[in-house]
Amino acid sequence: MNKFSVLSPCKINLNLSVHGKREDGYHSLTSVFQAVSLYDRIHITPDESREIKIRGDFDCAPEDNLIYKACSLFVKEAGIKHGYTFEIDKKVPQGGGIGGGSSNCAFVLRALNEYYNYPLTQETIMELGLSLGSDVPFFLSSPTALVQGRGELLSSLKTRTDYTILLINPGIHVSTARAFSLLAEKRAYTPKESCDINAMVSQYQKSPIKFWTLKNDFELVMDSDYTFISVIREALLASGADFVQMSGSGSTMYGLFTAQEDAEKAADRLSVNKMYKINIVRPIDSFPSIERF
Ligand code: C5P
Repeated sequence: MNKFSVLSPCKINLNLSVHGKREDGYHSLTSVFQAVSLYDRIHITPDESREIKIRGDFDCAPEDNLIYKACSLFVKEAGIKHGYTFEIDKKVPQGGGIGGGSSNCAFVLRALNEYYNYPLTQETIMELGLSLGSDVPFFLSSPTALVQGRGELLSSLKTRTDYTILLINPGIHVSTARAFSLLAEKRAYTPKESCDINAMVSQYQKSPIKFWTLKNDFELVMDSDYTFISVIREALLASGADFVQMSGSGSTMYGLFTAQEDAEKAADRLSVNKMYKINIVRPIDSFPSIERF
């Protein structure tokens, strides 16, 4: 049995409209997700043991790790009788609204399915992914997507690659559940009927980035409770960003720059704050495949 590895990218939300609570307790949303070039590397060593071992810098018990859960579901569904050691070289900040855990989960499902020459259909992989998290199906689809429902309704979009992204993680953990309850308290949902999806997609695809009016509902309501949002927003705008937004339910903020050197200068300027984890990344237009050793 050969070792193999896969890169697991993260994402940003270019907009995020939340439309209210559904009967199943989740919220329905509309968002353009973009995968970006900051990756964890997941090394996978199969063996005959039937045990799943996780090695890496995680803040949860191995059994609670989405990699463990994804692997357990996969082997059960595919009827495979192997064990695995997963070693994760973690580069994506955890709990930052950029989908690191969801991506690890999806890329383990993708990698195992590719390694065994696709025993499970894409539909089954999607179902397994959705059962583990709302953002997982995106990482099983395409690197730029319009995402609706609770995260399972996906339409691929053509990737724009004419910008560089400066990611700023302020090192503050924002709970997703807390972010959703703030939205409910402030009744700040975007009504579905006022969300013109065609106009939004057309803006993403056609307008110069500096004219985008895309919004994140979470950022709008969290601004008064979390001061880092306006501090980073102002700093990015003062450094020449064409567009600034929070990703997901935070805490990662990002700036989009049409010139890479402007992003680099902004990164230098913002790096005086030692609390910030800063990464310069690019939108990606294809998802990684496995590498076999
Ligand atoms: O699906 P996931 O585990 O990522 O969701 C974490 C929490 O975020 C859920 O328990 C729910 O409270 C909230 N959530 C939601 N609506 C969504 C996605 C997440 O209410 N579409």
